[in-house]
Amino acid sequence: MTISQKLFANSYDLLNTLVEWRISSYRRSTAGQANGHVLEIGFGTGSNLKYYPDSVNITALEPNPFMFKKIRDRTLKSKKDVTIFQGYGENMPFENEVFDTVVVTLVLCMVDDVESVISEITRVLKPGGRFYFYEHVSSSSYIGSKFQDLLNPFWKFITTGCNLNRDTERIINNAGFSKVDTSKFTIRFGTPISLPNLVGVAIKKS
Ligand SMILES: C[S@@+](CC[C@H](N)C(=O)[O-])C[C@H]1O[C@@H](n2cnc3c(N)ncnc32)[C@H](O)[C@@H]1O
Repeated sequence: MTISQKLFANSYDLLNTLVEWRISSYRRSTAGQANGHVLEIGFGTGSNLKYYPDSVNITALEPNPFMFKKIRDRTLKSKKDVTIFQGYGENMPFENEVFDTVVVTLVLCMVDDVESVISEITRVLKPGGRFYFYEHVSSSSYIGSKFQDLLNPFWKFITTGCNLNRDTERIINNAGFSKVDTSKFTIRFGTPISLPNLVGVAIKKS
């Protein structure tokens, strides 16, 4: 447990209000599409909870224990079925092929090893299971990506671990899913600051 984890947990909802209104439709197209037994990795304070259909049961994986009180409070209010596990996406405490859906939103920018997390996701998904993701990603333009590389150390420091410049789409495309559907869009905060985003679903081979 670190001071930065506590600070991040305490400030997350406040910081999130700045962008939440711009990303709620992507929560709908990821968490909102979940079915059956759902695993959400990097559950945070539970921002996706209200978007899940009432019919699902949710396993929440989150390494930061300072998030847990907020998750419990939100779960009580939502009346949804949530079981919380403390742990990391790189090494998950679950059996093989147990989840119908895996949801990840704004997490792969923070994990230590994206490839390991995606490999774990393919392990725990049932055949034909769906992985929904919404992430900000590296810029596809040369100048944009150089700007992200330059800004990344400072950004990572002030956000306690978020990376601006990850090529998450390439990693998901190379992970052996039977089908990957993605769309990309940019959130602009005024020139020259803009954030390329990726939203999509990947289906595990049946
Ligand atoms: C930016 S927050 C996003 C929270 C939530 N998914 C959302 O959409 O609001 C990133 C979350 O990922 C968690 N996280 C960081 N590293 C992780 C890892 N290796 N495995 C799983 N979760 C991780 C953080 O503790 C934090 O709760």
